[in-house]
Amino acid sequence: MTNPQTPTDTVITLSSVTKRFGATTALNGVSIEVERGEIVVLLGLSGSGKSTLLRHVDGLEQPTDGSIKVLGENVAGLSGRPLRTLRSKVGFIFQQFELVPSLSVLENVLTGALATLRGPRLGLWSYGRANKLAALGHLDRVGLLDRAYQRADTLSGGQQQRVAIARALMQNPEILLADEPVASLDPESSDQVMALIREIALDRGLTVLCSLHQVDLALSWADRIVGLRHGEVVLDTPTVGLTKAQVMEIYGRVATTTSELQAIEAELLVGSIPDSAR
Ligand SMILES: Nc1ncnc2c1ncn2[C@@H]1O[C@H](COP(=O)(O)OP(=O)(O)OP(=O)(O)O)[C@@H](O)[C@H]1O
Ligand SMILES: [Mg+2]
Repeated sequence: MTNPQTPTDTVITLSSVTKRFGATTALNGVSIEVERGEIVVLLGLSGSGKSTLLRHVDGLEQPTDGSIKVLGENVAGLSGRPLRTLRSKVGFIFQQFELVPSLSVLENVLTGALATLRGPRLGLWSYGRANKLAALGHLDRVGLLDRAYQRADTLSGGQQQRVAIARALMQNPEILLADEPVASLDPESSDQVMALIREIALDRGLTVLCSLHQVDLALSWADRIVGLRHGEVVLDTPTVGLTKAQVMEIYGRVATTTSELQAIEAELLVGSIPDSAR
């Protein structure tokens, strides 16, 4: 653990954040706090504001109104080097992994160190021995040490996402943001990737804020669920004791039987299939 978890160690605070894109209100008065070491999952229909919220935490979007504090810094007021410094403490993983397909797995992991290095790097040797050893260590942690010298695009989707996790670890992040990290994966790989994220987070005292479409995964792997609907927080509660039916109310749909619940879920998951796969 990098830091002991205390009840007052808040690492992410959104205070009345509103974000408008023209006539669209993507976030409407969102206030949430995330404590160090917490694993929080954002749930909500397509267009409910999950990605927009994550992008605000990383300073990729500026709020129209309200404020965002991350690791004690006011994100909205930052630019240039202070913003880069803050971002180096925040890892981000995405649905499509965003690896460089023609590079080896190890080189992809090493690019995670770029946030803390100066100037461009060309080739494995240019990252230095310490970074290379660290990258191999992170690959070992995600169970892919034996794939280090394989081209990234020859790995399965689940393996590629594990490489992306190793790449994020190269930054030694304090916070990990994940935007639908398992939306492109089959159920078994999804479960493995979420389990890995949770294990690593617990090992390292990492704080995780992750958007998902799968209610079951959220209930299994999150400490807390924040539900968004039309850019507003409609649920913010620990997962302990939370039922699936209660979570489904986030979507404005209430199921009374198991088959109704399954039908609604099937409908919701359609929203998580990438356009390219439809
Ligand atoms: N750069 C942008 N310009 C215009 N509108 C945007 C932009 N980014 C997001 N929006 C709009 O803001 C709303 C919230 O979008 P967001 O991508 O945050 O939703 P989401 O919950 O991540 O959805 P999904 O589950 O489909 O990924 C949507 O109506 C979207 O069209
Ligand atoms: Mg999104």
